[in-house]
Amino acid sequence: MGITASQTILKNADGVLPGKGGVIDRDGKKVAIYRDKDGKIKMISARCTHMGCIVHWNGAENTWDCPCHGSRFDINGKVINGPAERDLEKVE
Ligand code: FES
Repeated sequence: MGITASQTILKNADGVLPGKGGVIDRDGKKVAIYRDKDGKIKMISARCTHMGCIVHWNGAENTWDCPCHGSRFDINGKVINGPAERDLEKVE
């Protein structure tokens, strides 16, 4: 796939600027955070539902992309492209 760049895992959501996404570590769980332009945060599991790799924020497309086999998810975690068939999981 050629998408092998590693990403920085943030400690908390403070580093996620409005209109952007980032992955944080919350008690050992990787959580995908998207902050909208009004500062509201959406949180979903960053673990790809295909085989468990950690998705990356794609700021050009506003999607969550998996570096392992190329699955892509929208801001709400809905599958856009497989091989993943299930949406990213919700987190509390
Ligand atoms: S683990 Fe994400 S596409 Fe395979």
